[in-house]
Amino acid sequence: MTNSRLTVIGAGVIGLSCAWRAAAAGLRVTVLDPAPASGASWVAGGMLAPVTEAWPGEEALLKLGVDSVRRWPGFAEQVGAAAGRPAGLRTEGTVVVATGAGDRAELDTLAGYLARLGRDVERLSGRELRRLEPALGPDVRGGLSVPDDLAVDNRVLLAALRVAGERAGVTLVERAAQTVLDDGARVTGVRTDGGDMASDVVLICAGAHSGSLHPVLHGLVRPVKGEILRLAHRSGAFPPPSRTVRALVDGRPVYAVPRDGGGLVIGATQAETGFDTEVTVGGVRDLLRDAERVLPGIAEYALVESAAGLRPGSPDNLPLIGALGPEGLLVATGHHRNGMLLAPVTADAVLDLLHGRPIPEAVRAADPDRCVSGAHDDEEVTRARVDQR
Ligand code: GLY
Repeated sequence: MTNSRLTVIGAGVIGLSCAWRAAAAGLRVTVLDPAPASGASWVAGGMLAPVTEAWPGEEALLKLGVDSVRRWPGFAEQVGAAAGRPAGLRTEGTVVVATGAGDRAELDTLAGYLARLGRDVERLSGRELRRLEPALGPDVRGGLSVPDDLAVDNRVLLAALRVAGERAGVTLVERAAQTVLDDGARVTGVRTDGGDMASDVVLICAGAHSGSLHPVLHGLVRPVKGEILRLAHRSGAFPPPSRTVRALVDGRPVYAVPRDGGGLVIGATQAETGFDTEVTVGGVRDLLRDAERVLPGIAEYALVESAAGLRPGSPDNLPLIGALGPEGLLVATGHHRNGMLLAPVTADAVLDLLHGRPIPEAVRAADPDRCVSGAHDDEEVTRARVDQR
């Protein structure tokens, strides 16, 4: 594939990571995005948290996330070295905490589930948790410490990936793009308002917008809205935690992800309301109320930003990473709540696919074929062609 032309649609964390890796490996890479490094990647909390995001029935996602979090230190080092600036990784770890009795019972269920999978997590009382993180308030009654769940400053990472890509030869074009399909719904190129572009391979990494880029992705990738708040420590206020704090407050999940310099990202709501990115009064109220129950000192912090992003949801919460159709089209999308976490393993897998090598074992479960088999029948392809017009 060396010297082949790769066109990447989407300059979020997945598109930028794949583009940088591919260009560093010798491909001629163009990335198309009308607003690079925006959307869900810009809004993200930045948790790299496969264990504390684990959910019974999602063992393949846990395995994929654990593979990727192990790649993170090397990935951050390589991005940092390539860009000549830090990639934003934080390695202080994560605590998960509970307030009421129902929340503690739910955490016990999570701890038991993880123990059955052989993943050790340390259970701690409220007092032990406060010894680790004095910012936790008296309503915190117990929880878990998960030191291997990490975090990244998403905006520092995006800036580093842009520079690393540019230095490796990636051309970033700030234009919207559409795939050009032939009669068999095969991608033959990419169309922008500046003209058509020929490509050897097109890679769709357009997050929640991926569904409009190929007929078989229609309905497979859907927007899942998340609202976040950014807070800044003010002089005299109680210092922020050093670890990521995930909490259950009367059954509602909330998290606080520290940033260097005293910042905190509080997240996140989850709602399926289409392509709506307005921040709601109710979302802000819930996040502040729940975060303050867990970290009372934030009442003295500055509220510096509220934002909403659209996670790219998939039918089973696993991403879609692999070939779509016969040849020349790859997808790396549908990362839902895990785009930051899964960037390293996704970029490595895409590079393997481009070189015709076997992909990492944990990525096999993310093969798009699991969702699209049958989608290439005649009726679907005909509908696809009509939709494209
Ligand atoms: N990964 C956290 C979120 O999507 O809110």
